[in-house]
Amino acid sequence: HNFVDHATLEKVKQVIAAGDTHVHVPDYEAFDAYVAGGGYEALKKLRRDGDWEDVQQNLLDAGLRGLGGAGFPSGKKWGFVRDNAGPRYMAVNGDEGEPGTFKDRWYLERVPHLFLEGMLIAAWAVEAEKVFLYMRDEYPQVLALLRTEIAALEAAGIVPAGYIDLRRGAGAYICGEESAMIESIEGKRGLPRHRPPYVAQVGIFGRPTLVHNVETLHWVARICREGAEVLSSTEKNGRKGLRSYSVSGRVAKPGMYELPAGSTITDVIEAAGGMADGHRFKAYQPGGPSSGLLPAAMDDIPLDFDTLQPHGSFIGSAAVVVLSDQDSAKAAALNMLRFFEDESCGQCTPCRVGCEKAVKLMQADRWDKPLLEELSTAMVDASICGLGQAAPNPIRLVIKHFADEV
Ligand code: NAI
Ligand code: SF4
Repeated sequence: HNFVDHATLEKVKQVIAAGDTHVHVPDYEAFDAYVAGGGYEALKKLRRDGDWEDVQQNLLDAGLRGLGGAGFPSGKKWGFVRDNAGPRYMAVNGDEGEPGTFKDRWYLERVPHLFLEGMLIAAWAVEAEKVFLYMRDEYPQVLALLRTEIAALEAAGIVPAGYIDLRRGAGAYICGEESAMIESIEGKRGLPRHRPPYVAQVGIFGRPTLVHNVETLHWVARICREGAEVLSSTEKNGRKGLRSYSVSGRVAKPGMYELPAGSTITDVIEAAGGMADGHRFKAYQPGGPSSGLLPAAMDDIPLDFDTLQPHGSFIGSAAVVVLSDQDSAKAAALNMLRFFEDESCGQCTPCRVGCEKAVKLMQADRWDKPLLEELSTAMVDASICGLGQAAPNPIRLVIKHFADEV
């Protein structure tokens, strides 16, 4: 697999061969510490005498949008789910598979109970019968700590035993697509469904289902505990709120940076300690491989929802990868298409055959641009889900901004 560093893979194989399967659980705020700081008071109060529509209004006032990457207004989803008769379910998408994204992991490894309280508030709001928590198996330490902390919630009587059903993903990128995740939860192969109907209407086992990303729920708890201002009071470059940028690539200090939503790539690189020694900024991936590559010259765009669409890109889950003069935009785009080729579920021809064909065409010294453009149009127009629809973005953006390389 092209995104795997082979030296690391060899090391992992050696560790497994040596029988060391110990999971290293990081230091984090566990149940008792969270409760000592007022944790779960917001949930208890809401369960006692809360009105779900007040909380929904709070989310809308805060400007909270789905932080898995699509940016759908979070409060609105609650209304869509409640419009359908029960029983209703909730599913949490913890299958953080976008290359370069690690913000959910960052929050889970430090303050898991903010997420868990947010999750239970959302479950209360839609009167969910059960919560399916679908976690990426590549985060074994997170799974271990969640098992411990869910047991603590059950022991404290905050949830009945079994109410939170922790499910392990199995490494398929496509199972992070919400309808494929639901198929996987139902015990089937993870194939995306056609929409509509949306999962808010027909979700797990045909029931109305609320789906939220991990980080979205972290902010639900913070809004309930600290008020809508926790997000709405930050303003920069005409944008409101905060974004959690997962920053990697040629920066001095890769990591997760919580910055104003109006931050530009210049601000993000500065927060990450500037460029790594000996590297000059050349290009950046703003939000996962499907957001493609933008040139360094486009350094004044706020990296937020809606601001990158006019440029043929989007912020997605804010997985910023910084490339330098030592990197090839052409090679990066090829790597991205190889990833999509590997991860395509194969259900529809434009994506399955399109990704494979694109990879072949992109291996040429000079790209056949008209043919790649025609292929891209077919993929965008005719693919079932976001994977195939967005896979051509790196091709189009590299043709537009790095024409000399291709
Ligand atoms: P989408 O815009 O189709 O849907 C977003 C959410 O809003 C879904 O939960 C959907 O059910 C709901 N929704 C939209 N319209 C609705 C309506 N009319 N009624 C009821 N519900 C409605 O986007 P999608 O395909 O779910 O997500 C795409 C994003 O996922 C991309 O931006 C990409 O960046 C991101 N992504 C994130 C990954 C990660 O690891 N965090 C991995 C791969 C992609
Ligand atoms: Fe599967 Fe790709 Fe079609 Fe999505 S677009 S359903 S990943 S083949």
